[in-house]
Amino acid sequence: MCGIVGYIGSNDTKEILLKGLEKLEYRGYDSAGIAVKNDDGVSVFKEKGRIADLRSVVDFSVNANIGIGHTRWATHGEPSQVNAHPHQSTTSRFTLVHNGVIENYAQLKREHLADVNLVSETDTEIIVQLIEKFVKEGLETEAAFAKALKELKGSYAIALLDNQNEDTIFVAKNKSPLLVGLGDDFNVIASDAMAMLQVTDEYVELMDKEMVIVTKDSITIKTLAGETVARDSFKAEIDASDIEKGTYPHYMLKEIDEQPAVMRKIVQAYQNEEGELSIAKDTLDAVNAADRIYIIACGTSYHAGLVGKEYLEKTAKIPTEVHVASEFVYNTPLLSEKPLFIFISQSGETADSRAVLVHIKELGHPALTLTNVAGSTLSREANHTLLLHAGPEIAVASTKAYTAQIAVLAILAEAAGKAKGFEMKFDLVQEMGIVANAIQTLTDDKEAFEQIARDFLSTTRNAFFIGRSMDYHVVQEAALKLKEISYIQAEGFAGGELKHGTIALIEDGTPVVALATQENVNLSIRGNVKEVAARGANTCTISMKGLEEEGDSYVIPHVHELLAPLVSVVPTQLIAYYAALHRDCDVDKPRNLAKSVTVE
Ligand code: F6R
Repeated sequence: MCGIVGYIGSNDTKEILLKGLEKLEYRGYDSAGIAVKNDDGVSVFKEKGRIADLRSVVDFSVNANIGIGHTRWATHGEPSQVNAHPHQSTTSRFTLVHNGVIENYAQLKREHLADVNLVSETDTEIIVQLIEKFVKEGLETEAAFAKALKELKGSYAIALLDNQNEDTIFVAKNKSPLLVGLGDDFNVIASDAMAMLQVTDEYVELMDKEMVIVTKDSITIKTLAGETVARDSFKAEIDASDIEKGTYPHYMLKEIDEQPAVMRKIVQAYQNEEGELSIAKDTLDAVNAADRIYIIACGTSYHAGLVGKEYLEKTAKIPTEVHVASEFVYNTPLLSEKPLFIFISQSGETADSRAVLVHIKELGHPALTLTNVAGSTLSREANHTLLLHAGPEIAVASTKAYTAQIAVLAILAEAAGKAKGFEMKFDLVQEMGIVANAIQTLTDDKEAFEQIARDFLSTTRNAFFIGRSMDYHVVQEAALKLKEISYIQAEGFAGGELKHGTIALIEDGTPVVALATQENVNLSIRGNVKEVAARGANTCTISMKGLEEEGDSYVIPHVHELLAPLVSVVPTQLIAYYAALHRDCDVDKPRNLAKSVTVE
């Protein structure tokens, strides 16, 4: 989703801003822009399309040491040059970039800006015009900025340049992420530390409804009431090499390949000195104090939650529900007496999940966040955090975060079950080693999945995935992966549901991919494959060693069937990847999608 960068220092800023925006490209965007300021004033360059398109309109002869930049994922107004950020006030004195959504922008326009001629369709332009109006009414820039912020309802991360204020970037945030980065003789701002790792790894986090006055030598954090706030900086623990593609053609393929290493890393991270898997006592106490767990997540993380529910119920015997975050606030179920909320989020910034977190905190309920990003909003605002240790996930299509989420949920469930004195069904450390090796076998056999993608999916417009029991959870993720990167309409169904309607869609050549990794439903899912084949479907069965039958398209190595989702998802990730490649799709940056979905 939208990204912000800013720089104030002694070096020329254009390349720093553009490189920063390139690091944010993975989040998804449809236009981009920068504004740079020197003694001659502010120059704005913006363009629809990619950063490469922006580069083609930047005047590289303009030298400037202060600048802000933005990648926009359209919400209010179509993707266009006019709607791209930065936006300027009518006199061009103020220039501003903004992430988030201003919910009361129409009302603000009506009440304050009726006589102002707006040039864009964005909610953002309202903010910059409001600041100019308050300055015209006699306020200093800082006071006008604070006054405008107090008027805003919704989410924002903002950076503002004032043409008449030599050496300052004004910054503010509410609900949208924003960091200030510290350097020697310069400071930066970034909506994601990754953007500015090129120049610094030392950052200061901002809290909601704070503003910051950033100069090249200082940063001053203030509340909107004007009180100064002291805050320590932290080191961003991201290795710059982790966010490079290396020799891989796409981040998605690199991240699929990283999964065996991620599985091993997670086990190490959660092993105590005795080599046993362990979870911090206060987190475990919170889990075991709950009479019911509510898992809240979106998209792929929601699908990981479906598997996690099985673990928490089967291993720790805690009743668990899984909810799509965007529906929860409207359709809040009748809550139990002692609920615990588990938020699963790769980015830790997903606005839909955060809205639920805010809601349940107001109700006084405890929350645990599983996230890949230490210090992210969902982590900071929950009572407990479990990290995924998957390393930065750059490709929009989530792969290693999904398997990491399931692995951490398995560890959590085992620790909770053991703490309650339940006997474990297997040695999780040992089984996770088997899982890591099994995934490695699959990622070493990519040609097989490229061939399956070619045979089954290269020309189709739609595809079905079917599974039962644990496999049903995985086929939902498999379908999401295929549709988001290859644009093939794909759905994941419970095998038993087919005959209740969906089988009507099966016609000659319809691709149906079945997963068969669960012994107790093997015969039934095989029956479903026969049913669709009899109606002309082009079937592909991916089974697990020990359950295979003649004619299966692929047999994955044997792992404990509760952990099978960690392995069986990998062929579906690779099939989706190759199907997208065969169709010339932009694998890492699928259309209309954003990596970090920071608007509701
Ligand atoms: C799909 C995908 C999305 C995310 C969803 C939640 O590949 O990545 O469905 O899983 O937007 O994002 P997080 O996990 O960051 O909350």
